Amino acid sequence: MTIENKVVVITGASSGIGETTAKLLAEKGAKLVLAARRADKLQKIVDSIQSENGDATYIATDVTQIEDNQQLVEHAISTYGKIDVIFLNAGLMPNSPLSKLKSDEWNQMVDVNIKGVLNGIEAVLPKFISQKSGHVITTSSVAGLKAYPGGAVYGATKWAVRDLMEVLRMESAQEGNNIRTATIYPAAIETELTDRITDKDTAKGTEQMYDQYQISPYSIANIVAFAIDQPEDVNINEFTVGPTSQPW
Ligand SMILES: NC(=O)c1ccc[n+]([C@@H]2O[C@H](COP(=O)([O-])OP(=O)(O)OC[C@H]3O[C@@H](n4cnc5c(N)ncnc54)[C@H](OP(=O)(O)O)[C@@H]3O)[C@@H](O)[C@H]2O)c1
Repeated sequence: MTIENKVVVITGASSGIGETTAKLLAEKGAKLVLAARRADKLQKIVDSIQSENGDATYIATDVTQIEDNQQLVEHAISTYGKIDVIFLNAGLMPNSPLSKLKSDEWNQMVDVNIKGVLNGIEAVLPKFISQKSGHVITTSSVAGLKAYPGGAVYGATKWAVRDLMEVLRMESAQEGNNIRTATIYPAAIETELTDRITDKDTAKGTEQMYDQYQISPYSIANIVAFAIDQPEDVNINEFTVGPTSQPW
């Protein structure tokens, strides 16, 4: 089955990569279930998809809460009768040097970027195992592949996602669950991600870097569509995606 009529759940769908992916997949005929905390934004995105004759619904979701993730999966099934793909994309990047001891932000990143992904997996896996099909896609980061100063905790969370997803792929194959996985490692993408950096020096350096290199979130949405569109017996497990001009 190609994208058309697949039921796709997206976390972090209220802006950036999640929003753009939702709109692209809706154009290609998928049925979208959007999740994030900002319900007003989700409502507007659903309205915009529906105005283009697309099919979408939303449910306000805090990915750090397991009950919210379970309600999200239940909402997809009660609305569309099934769930084919979950794109675990919600994330935060309030970078700073470790010496600034911004431990509240460290904890937020662990809660959203790691536990949020685990909560999504916990909520959806019983369904995928029982139907012997499903596709788990995550947004890691090039920070999950390469270390850089200022990105210790963010990178650690994205490194963790890489490991979780690789083991999910291996175990799903071993157990014969027929679940596909894809982990995406984006570099600089033009979204709201950098707006929440509170350390002034880090914010300035990041802004300069993004101003020079950032590319459209459509670059990632296209990869999600490509991964979903592969034949059911083909799993493309990893994608590293960034600006052609970015020299590292
Ligand atoms: N932009 C880049 O350069 C880049 C590069 C590599 C990886 N990434 C990754 O891409 C993913 C998407 O980020 P983006 O770039 O599109 O940035 P963004 O525009 O800031 O989007 C982040 C999304 O995460 C959601 N979110 C944050 N905390 C949440 C929570 N507790 N529960 C539910 N949703 C939550 C936000 O929605 P609410 O605030 O409404 O909840 C928002 O929809 C993230 O995982 C990020 O780490 C981005």
